[in-house]
This record gives sequence, C-alpha cells and structure tokens, in this order.
Amino acid sequence: MDVADKVRAFVHAAEASYAARVTDPEGRRSTQEIFARLGSDALEPDTSVEPERFPVCDWLDHVVVPEGDLSAVLGAFRALEPHLRWYRRDCAASRALPGFSEAHANAMIVGRSGLVPHERVTLGLSLIAPGTRYPDHDHPPEETYLSLSDGEFFHGDSGWFTPGIGGTFHNTPGILHAMRSGEGPLCAVWALQS
Ligand SMILES: [Fe+2]
Repeated sequence: MDVADKVRAFVHAAEASYAARVTDPEGRRSTQEIFARLGSDALEPDTSVEPERFPVCDWLDHVVVPEGDLSAVLGAFRALEPHLRWYRRDCAASRALPGFSEAHANAMIVGRSGLVPHERVTLGLSLIAPGTRYPDHDHPPEETYLSLSDGEFFHGDSGWFTPGIGGTFHNTPGILHAMRSGEGPLCAVWALQS
C-alpha cells in the first residue's frame, strides 16, 4: 500500500464509523457532506511533508477499541502514522496548563496543513496523555468528534460529558470546547468543514 492508498483506507474507515455512529442531525449532515467531498476530490498526499512524532505518541499503543468499525479506523490510522507530521498546539497562545505541550499531539490527515492538503475539510486526530486537560478553544468550522477512548469533553454550556469509546458529538461553528483525559490516554478523531 502506498501513502495515497493508506489515506483512502483511513478516510473510508472514518466515513463508515461516522455513518454508523453519528445520531445528532447536524453531525450527520456535516459528516455526510465532508465525506461526500472527500469521495469526489482527488486525495493527493503532499510528498514534501516530513514525518515527525513525539514521545507522547507512544500512548497510541495504549488505545484499545473493540473489533469492528472502530478497530478499522484505529488500524488505518496506525498504518498511516509513520507518514504523518504530528504537531503541537501553540501553547502560549492558548494559555495551556504547564506540561500540556509535551502531553499532547495532533495529527492532520486532511486539511490546510495536512498530509493531504484541502481547503475546506479537515480530518485529524488528537492524542492526550493521561491526566491532561486540553485548553478551551473555538474555531469557525463546525466539527464532529469521534471518540476512540474514554475521556471527558464539554462544548458550550454542556458541562463535562463522556461520549465513551465510539461516542460522537457535533460542535457548532464558534462554540467553545475542550477535552480532558482521566487515568488512560484520550484519543479522538475530528472532522471539520468550512
Ligand atoms: Fe476543535
């Protein structure tokens, strides 16, 4: 499998999992639009992307999901991972807690600075070490999360909630949101469109 095949495998696995799991009407509409776009667009990996990973990425080995659509997503991500340039949030700009920088990593498979450049769609994954709180943030694109682990989230005035392994939720444009891990790592896929 070349890199483009691995990207397509991940996109197809994510599409199937979102289609099976998203019940929120806005999340369904958004993810259907996202994967329709990705299905019709040529997904050409940027060959100039230099892979990079951080020690925190070792927590990926501790993410455990049941057999089925979720293991297909995780397996496809693991196959793609050696080609990805993991990155960290700008911690100064986001007023992150001390230690946050080393305790998280994000990977963008599709998106403006992703392995596959795309202007409208972003498809990526966050990995957070145990006992870590991600800073509150917001962004104009709407977003649907697919959680691959335990861990808590909030958006707007929801208070903290636990979608659970395979749980999903939709963030409306501009809503404030964050996540935090418990005793294990937090791993979640996000799909955004503008
Ligand atoms: Fe977000």
